[in-house]
Amino acid sequence: MRYYYKLNFPVKFLRDDIDVSGYTNSKGRIFSVKTQEYITPEAFNFLCSLGLIPNAHAYIFLRKPLETSSIHTDDIGAYVKRIWAINYTWGTDKSDMAWYKPLDTIKKKEVLVTTAGSDYTEYLTNEVEELERHMVNGLFLTRTDVPHSVTNYDLANDRWSLSVRILDILYDWNRIVKTLDPFIE
Ligand SMILES: [Fe+2]
Repeated sequence: MRYYYKLNFPVKFLRDDIDVSGYTNSKGRIFSVKTQEYITPEAFNFLCSLGLIPNAHAYIFLRKPLETSSIHTDDIGAYVKRIWAINYTWGTDKSDMAWYKPLDTIKKKEVLVTTAGSDYTEYLTNEVEELERHMVNGLFLTRTDVPHSVTNYDLANDRWSLSVRILDILYDWNRIVKTLDPFIE
């Protein structure tokens, strides 16, 4: 089972009129935004037609040139992991995402909260082993309950990602992969 699938939707995903310039010089790296201000009405309706109703809020992730995020899982409170997200990445084609397996010796860790109010669990590089790594750009399905990190290798350009979230408790990883299978590249 993979942790990442490139998607090809029959509709345009990201709106043309988005403006992230206000975030560029922020100290923050994750921002909560209104989903419908970032995805096109066609993309919203397309997801709904698949039974995937987007949450009202999505996240914008920023990685500056040569920055790497922490290795983390996306959590919902202390006991539930957020299983997956539909992400759209732009700004550079020189970034990748990696997924990791926590070592068997790692016990349950404390849940932390991002500046955007979302929960996560962080891992140190010596607490995990790498499973898979992909260059990422454009639209993709990503697994978020498995520890993951992002690196922007670009020397000059910011890496942006919109992360649309859905009530994923109804869709485990196998089910969402099956639902989106006709649109997996
Ligand atoms: Fe994440």
